[in-house]
Amino acid sequence: MVKNANAPCDLMLFGALGDLAQRKLFPALYQLERAGLLAQGSRILAIARTKATTADVREQLFEKLRYHVKDREFDAGVANVFLQRVDYLLLDFTDPEGYGALREWRDEPNNELIVYMATPPSMYGVIARNMKATSCCNEKTRVVVEKPIGHDLESSRVINDELGEVYHENQLFRIDHYLGKETVQNLIALRFANNLFASQWDQNHISHVEITVAESVGIEGRWGYFDQAGQIRDMIQNHLLQLLCLIAMDPPADLSADSIRDEKVKVLKALKRIAPDMMDRYVVRGQYTAGTSNGKPVPGYLEEDDANKGSATETFVALKAEIDNWRWSGVPFYIRTGKRLPEKLSQIIIHFKPAPHYIFDPDQKHLANNKLIIRLQPDEGMALKILTKDQGLDKGMRLRQGPLELTFSETFEAERIPDAYERLLWEVMKGNQYLFVRRDEVEYAWRWVDEIIANWRDSGEPPKRYAAGTWGPVASIAMITRDGRSWYEDA
Ligand code: BG6
Repeated sequence: MVKNANAPCDLMLFGALGDLAQRKLFPALYQLERAGLLAQGSRILAIARTKATTADVREQLFEKLRYHVKDREFDAGVANVFLQRVDYLLLDFTDPEGYGALREWRDEPNNELIVYMATPPSMYGVIARNMKATSCCNEKTRVVVEKPIGHDLESSRVINDELGEVYHENQLFRIDHYLGKETVQNLIALRFANNLFASQWDQNHISHVEITVAESVGIEGRWGYFDQAGQIRDMIQNHLLQLLCLIAMDPPADLSADSIRDEKVKVLKALKRIAPDMMDRYVVRGQYTAGTSNGKPVPGYLEEDDANKGSATETFVALKAEIDNWRWSGVPFYIRTGKRLPEKLSQIIIHFKPAPHYIFDPDQKHLANNKLIIRLQPDEGMALKILTKDQGLDKGMRLRQGPLELTFSETFEAERIPDAYERLLWEVMKGNQYLFVRRDEVEYAWRWVDEIIANWRDSGEPPKRYAAGTWGPVASIAMITRDGRSWYEDA
C-alpha cells in the first residue's frame, strides 16, 4: 500500500508536548517542511493534556525548534510556515466525549489520516477504542506507535490485541528508530546490492560478528521508566535484535515490507534459546558505579536522582547469540550495549575467516583475517580492513592491515544525513511499512529475551559492577576471550 506522499495528510499527534515529540518529532517534521516534502494542505493536530492555546503551543514549539535544530539548519521563516500547519487540542485521552473535536478539526475528511501515539503504551488501546467509537478513523488510517510494546511477551500481546481490535496490521507502524538510521538501511544495500559480500555472507567465510551499541550518557532523568525496563528491554529486545536480523537475514525476494519482515522473523525464530545452564558463558549483565564520563566525575546508577538504592536493574548487557540455521551454524554474534560506557558508539564488525592456507611470517598470523566495520554512529560509514604488503625494500613480505574507508560525510559531501525520525515519518506518509516492526517480530523478540530475564530472576544473582567510563564488567571481556577472541577495541 505505498501511497503518493505528496497527497495532503492530517497528522494527529497524541502526547505532543512530551519529550519525544518536542525533541524528535517536531524537529523531524520541520526538516520535512524545509526539504519541501510536506504537501500543501497537510496539517498537524497537536494533542495533549495541558491547558494551552494554539498560539501558546506554536510559540513554545518555535523555541524548541530553535533549540533542537542545528543552527545552520534553522530558518525562522520555514519554522513559521511550518507552525501555521499546527493546531492544538486539549484532550483527556480517556474521555470519549472529547474525541468529537478531532473529527471537527478535519477540514478535508478525505485527506490521509495519520495518528501518532507518542504516549505511554498503556494509552494505545484507550486511544484506539475512543477513535473508533467516535468515528475519527477508518480502515485507511495509519497509526504510529513507539516502543516499548509491553515489558514481556504477554503484555506485548495485550497491547497488540488492543490495537488489533481497531486496526489491521497493515495500518500499524511500530517504530524502532534504529531502522530509520541511514547506515542501518545501508545494511540492506551493502548486503544485497554488492555480490562481493553476498557470496561471502555465511559460516563458510565469517567467523563471528560483533555488535556494540554504547552510550556515554547515564539515565538522564528517566530513572522511573528505566528501572522497570533495564538495558535488555530498553535496547536488546528491539534495537540490537533488529540490527542482528538485518545482518543475519536471508536475501528477501524484493524490497516490500513483508518480504523483508518475513526474513527477519526467520532469524528471530532461529535464535538459540539461552537455557539456565548456559547463562554463565553466554550472558553478562552489569550496573555502573561512580566513575568518570568525558573527564568529569559522575555518580553510580544507584546514586542517580530518584534512585531506588536496592535496584538490581542492569545498565549493561553483553551476550553471545547463536542462530540455529545453515547460514550461521557455529558463528557467534557477540552483542554488547550499555550506559555510561567510554563513548557513544554504535558499530557492527564482521570478522571474516582467514584464508585456508597461511604462507606469510608466522608472527603475523593473527592479522590474517579481513574485517568489515560498519559504523552507525558517530561518523557513519564503513571500513574494510584488508592486508597488503608493507612498503620498503627492507620489509620483505611483511604484512600490514589497512582500511578501505568510506566515510559518508566526506564521500557524499553535499548530502545531509537525515535523522531517523525524518525518514520514518516520511515513510509513514508514503504508507511504506518496510522500516517498521511487524507484530510477530516484536513477539519473537520478547520470547527470546523473556527467557534470559527469567533466568536472571531465578538465579537471584545481582548484576556485576563496572565503573562509569569503562567498557562494562570484566566478565564481558572474559566471555569473548574464552572463545579465543576479543572485543574490537581491545584487539
Ligand atoms: C532509546 C532508548 O530507544 O534509544 C534509550 O530508550 C537510548 O535508552 C536510545 O538512549 C539510544 O538511541 P540513539 O539513537 O541515541 O542511539
